[in-house]
Amino acid sequence: MTDIKFLSFEGIDGCGKSTQAKFLVAHFMAKGQEVLRTREPGGSPGAEAIRGLLLTGDTDKWSAETELLLFTAARRDHLEKTIEPALAAGQMVICDRFADSTRVYQGATRGDLRTKVDQLHAAMIGREPDLTLIIDVDPKIALARGLARNSGEDRFEDFGLEFQEKLRIGFLKLTQEYPQRCRLVDGNRPAEAVFEDVLALAQS
Ligand code: TMP
Repeated sequence: MTDIKFLSFEGIDGCGKSTQAKFLVAHFMAKGQEVLRTREPGGSPGAEAIRGLLLTGDTDKWSAETELLLFTAARRDHLEKTIEPALAAGQMVICDRFADSTRVYQGATRGDLRTKVDQLHAAMIGREPDLTLIIDVDPKIALARGLARNSGEDRFEDFGLEFQEKLRIGFLKLTQEYPQRCRLVDGNRPAEAVFEDVLALAQS
């Protein structure tokens, strides 16, 4: 068992975090813990509708500023309708991406929007996970994996390798900015080996 109530997974596109989230939920459920697996953008009907707007279409469909507003709107709905009620009911919440994705994808890729990201987060969200596991993978491998999925939600993969390399640096910086909460996991290994580290961190 663990004292962590709200855990997020983060990383560049195709890093394998969704697989790790599934493994971790299955592990805790097998131990009899009530766990909710959810994701961003999405996780509530309103936020899932916003997801469709954000992840499909051309790279220039939205500016980083407009994305920031849409991701924050989706997060607010997700928090109100899904995350807060689950935590209040005593469930553990495991979330595939949360505000760190906005800090990196909107805050640090197309100009420096980090101050605006922080202001909006403070005004509208004001909550962090107890633990954030950042799965670190070589961007070349991750991008090929993400594009091969052909999910139809490839708008951010379509920004290309240089964008994914900037994202990786952004996530690495977060581990220095939030050393207590953000922990790095080497994702350049088979999923089962990565999960051993994930589990050790989630239980510590
Ligand atoms: P995923 O479900 O495959 O992780 O895709 C979600 C995409 O949305 C991914 O490319 C990262 C991006 N994203 C942002 O740009 N900002 C955010 O705040 C979130 C939650 C996701």
